[in-house]
Amino acid sequence: MFDTIFKRTSYRGLYKDFPVPREDLTLILKAGLAAPSGCNKQSTSLIAIDDKEILKIIGELLNRKNIVSAPALILVLSQKIIANGGRCYYKQDFSAAVQNMLLAICELGYESCWLEGYVADNAESCAKITKLLGAPEDYELSVILPVGMADEELTYANKKSFEERAWFNGFRNS
Ligand SMILES: Cc1cc2nc3c(=O)[nH]c(=O)nc-3n(C[C@H](O)[C@H](O)[C@H](O)COP(=O)(O)O)c2cc1C
Repeated sequence: MFDTIFKRTSYRGLYKDFPVPREDLTLILKAGLAAPSGCNKQSTSLIAIDDKEILKIIGELLNRKNIVSAPALILVLSQKIIANGGRCYYKQDFSAAVQNMLLAICELGYESCWLEGYVADNAESCAKITKLLGAPEDYELSVILPVGMADEELTYANKKSFEERAWFNGFRNS
């Protein structure tokens, strides 16, 4: 588990033209659904896309290289379900599901990238995609995860040092 956590990285390059077997996609989806959710409301739903025709339509609407070349996409849908105390945990719910899936994707030898800012920037196209897939109006597309084998070098983002962000027994305690 720790190897996978530390080797995961956001991949924004092209994908190889190799399909992702249904078995692997199912395992990735199951990892997402196994995530915790606020008050167990399970507000996150998932659609895996591996149909070439649908991938082509999505690629035309979201023309970005790691979406267009990906042999599979996972669409993360959210319902704004109200939990205890009138709070709504849908963002936390889908974030936990996404992180589980990113780790599952990495563990199975594929790459991905948490595409959420990009989804928000392309809200109109994303609404068309959810409609095309038959999702009811209260299911909002929150994140897209491309899945596939990398065809370009992996890169690793710079992270602040441990000492800058984590301490024992007090803020900035060394
Ligand atoms: C909430 C959230 C939204 C993100 N949205 C995007 C996005 O729209 N496009 C993108 O290329 N990366 C996106 N990312 C990936 C981050 O840019 C990436 O995690 C960060 O640069 C650290 O790199 P790493 O994932 O390789 O550790 C997002 C990540 C998070 C957690």
